[in-house]
Amino acid sequence: MTTNTPNTTNTTNTTTTLSRVDAQKKRAADYAVARIETGMKVGLGTGSTARFAVAALGARVRAEGLKVKAVPTSEATRQQAEAEGIPLVGFDTVDRLDLCFDGADEADARLNLTKGGGGALLREKVVAFNAAKFYCIVDEAKVVLHLHAFPLPVEVIPFAVKIVEREVRALGAEPVLRRRAGEPFVTDNGLWILDCKFPPIREPPLLARAFAQIPGVAEHGLFCGMVHELVVGTDDGVRILKG
Ligand code: 5RP
Repeated sequence: MTTNTPNTTNTTNTTTTLSRVDAQKKRAADYAVARIETGMKVGLGTGSTARFAVAALGARVRAEGLKVKAVPTSEATRQQAEAEGIPLVGFDTVDRLDLCFDGADEADARLNLTKGGGGALLREKVVAFNAAKFYCIVDEAKVVLHLHAFPLPVEVIPFAVKIVEREVRALGAEPVLRRRAGEPFVTDNGLWILDCKFPPIREPPLLARAFAQIPGVAEHGLFCGMVHELVVGTDDGVRILKG
C-alpha cells in the first residue's frame, strides 16, 4: 500500500525542506495520525519520528478541532504536546487507549521491535501494551531481518546494575552503561540504561522472557507481538506490514 505526500512540512508555520530519511519518517507519521478520530484516547511516542506525528496531531487539533485525550510517553513528548495544544491526561484517568503511535530503533520481519534509543522504553511499553492499536512508524533503514545492529536498551534499577550486567553477559551480550556528559544517563523514571550488544536476535520472545527473570531489570526494549501496523515511510509513500 502506498500513499504520496510532499517532501515538505509546515506544521510549525514555517516550511522546511526535509532530508530523505526525515521525509520517510514524516510520511509514516502522517499515515498514523490520519488514523486518529475525534473522541479517541491516544498514546504519544517519543523520538524524532514520533515528533513528526505529535506535530501532525497538533496541526489537526488546531485546524479541525479534533478532540483527543493524549498520554505522552516522556517528558520531552509532554513538552512538545503541550506546546502543540494537544490535551493531555494522566494514565490514572484513562484505562485503555484507542491508539498509540511510536517509532522504533529496529523492526524485524515478524514485527518484533528494539526500542529505547531515546531512553523512554518503559513508559512506551506501558502505553503500547494498553493501546488497542499500536502504529509503529519508521523509516526504511529501521527494517531488518533480525534485530541486531542497534544495542538493546535495558532500563535498570541503579542498585542492581552490577548484577544485571553479569546476567546480561550470561545471555551473550556486552552491556554498556549509557552516559550523558560522563554521568549515567537517568531516565524519566530515575533509572539507568544498559545498552546491550547481542549477536543477531533470532528469537526475540525467548530473550524477552529471559530478561523478565532478572531482578533489577525494570524493563527491556524488546517489543514482541505488540504492533498492529508497522508503517514504513518510503520515498513515495508508506509500506504497511500488519501484525
Ligand atoms: C525512544 C524510542 C524511539 O522510538 C526510538 O529510539 C526511535 O527513535 P527515532 O524515531 O528518533 O529514530 O524508542 O525511547
